[in-house]
Amino acid sequence: MDLKPNFRPSFFFSFLIFFFFLQKPDLGSASNPKCISTERQALLTFKQSLTDPSGLLSSWSGLDCCKWRGVRCDRRTSHVIKIDLRNPNQTLRPYDYYGEFKKGGLGGKIDPSLTRLKYLSYLDLSSNDFNFLAIPEFIGRIVSLRYLNLSFTSLSGEVPPSFGNLSKLESLDLYAQTFSDDGLTAYTLHASNLGWLSGLSSSLTYLNLGFVNLSGASDTWVEDFSRLSKLKELHLYNSELNKLHLSFSLSSSANLKLLEVLDLSRNSFNSPIPNWLFDLTNLRKLYIQQVLLYSSIPSGFKKLKLLETLDLSDNTLGLEIPAVLGYLPRLKYLDLSVNSFRSQIHSFLDALSKNKENSLVSLDLSSNSMYGTLPESLGALRNLQILDLSDNSFTGPIPSSVGNMASLKELVLYTNMFSGAIPQSLGDISTLNKLILSFNKLEGRIPKRLKFKDPSIYAGNDLLCGKPLPKKCPRKQ
Ligand SMILES: *[C@@H]1O[C@H](CO)[C@@H](O)[C@H](O)[C@H]1NC(C)=O
Ligand SMILES: *[C@@H]1O[C@H](CO)[C@@H](O)[C@H](O)[C@H]1NC(C)=O
Ligand SMILES: *[C@@H]1O[C@H](CO)[C@@H](O)[C@H](O)[C@H]1NC(C)=O
Ligand SMILES: *[C@@H]1O[C@H](CO)[C@@H](O)[C@H](O)[C@H]1NC(C)=O
Repeated sequence: MDLKPNFRPSFFFSFLIFFFFLQKPDLGSASNPKCISTERQALLTFKQSLTDPSGLLSSWSGLDCCKWRGVRCDRRTSHVIKIDLRNPNQTLRPYDYYGEFKKGGLGGKIDPSLTRLKYLSYLDLSSNDFNFLAIPEFIGRIVSLRYLNLSFTSLSGEVPPSFGNLSKLESLDLYAQTFSDDGLTAYTLHASNLGWLSGLSSSLTYLNLGFVNLSGASDTWVEDFSRLSKLKELHLYNSELNKLHLSFSLSSSANLKLLEVLDLSRNSFNSPIPNWLFDLTNLRKLYIQQVLLYSSIPSGFKKLKLLETLDLSDNTLGLEIPAVLGYLPRLKYLDLSVNSFRSQIHSFLDALSKNKENSLVSLDLSSNSMYGTLPESLGALRNLQILDLSDNSFTGPIPSSVGNMASLKELVLYTNMFSGAIPQSLGDISTLNKLILSFNKLEGRIPKRLKFKDPSIYAGNDLLCGKPLPKKCPRKQ
């Protein structure tokens, strides 16, 4: 009877030990999952139809497919969950030689045996060269996928509507610029009907259809993408879109409300900036470069309080640069270069200098028709690192307050009508490493105190390059 109280703790203790030993081998096998043989067969079949000049798949033999290069199995169930066969030479893209790129990669055919991997959640075949192989419809049957990267693969044809069955997909990258035997190619993929996107509406957070020809979907694209309620990044760079719908309304629905990054650059909208953009109040980065935008910058931008990067360069936007942009609290990069802005800079710069939260790092207003003088408030831009006002019609002296711009690295003012003496206060800016003042009516010398690591200093029309000489110094005209 006395034993009982003693028995219990020791029983409990040995139970713990027993439990520990029971767990131990299990833990061991969990960190070394063993391949399931039917999945191994599927992988071998997949391998057989690929070409592999660089031996990327040389480890794909033996029993334990979980140890093969690029393959990962679930620790608990041993199912293949990840295949990452991205060409390791993909970092050479896109401007290096095709041959080097191709040497590192896979080619051939993509076998439907992949659909036998019922737990595959991650598939990356990017930067390999499938030489215009039709993009496989059966990928839409791997419904366990969460991540699919087929970017830069020279797959071709219509993006299969079966992709709409990938209802768990969080990230889809079909960026379609790539190399072929003739050099850089693009637009091998097209999507004329984007209805299938609705199948991804509650999962997709990242979508890249750059260089995918969407011209056939131009009439409905805004509506189609607006169904993606979880989307955070949408990249439609160079996607042959030719319509920007002005009357569309996003405000009534929750859709696209999470969008943080939107790239619509290099399409042919031929349109003013639409107001529905200002309902995307989570936007941090907005790129609408070179799309034939015209008219002026709407005051609606004041609603985009989280905006950090705004690139509207290379359009024909005009009139003035509105003060609302100066008041955006998080704006770091503003590129309005190559447009038709024809105004003074005062109201915008004054707004910036009054904005206590102003965190602007880079301002590019080059190649517009801006005129008038630069205000002393310029000196208040203490976070600004890059200021490019070149190729405008600014007049008057460079204000001496410029010396207060304590973070300035690049000051580019060439081809204007600045006059007077080069301010000696420039010598106070210890961070300055690029200064281009050529093609103005400035007088005097560059302050001696300025020391340039990478000097490209021009003043007046005289070349004043420091040493060592930069490779490209425009000659005195
Ligand atoms: C990448 O390209 C280089 C040639 O630049 C080649 O020697 C190398 O084998 C390639 N890498 C792989 C993993 O094949
Ligand atoms: C897809 O792969 C390419 C490299 O081939 C990479 O640059 C890109 O970031 C990947 N996309 C995503 C969404 O991870
Ligand atoms: C999506 O899956 C369903 C059910 O499995 C199937 O009937 C349908 O054909 C698939 N849709 C496409 C577009 O492949
Ligand atoms: C895109 O597709 C349309 C037809 O749908 C075609 O007229 C156009 O030439 C294509 N664009 C490119 C760059 O291939």
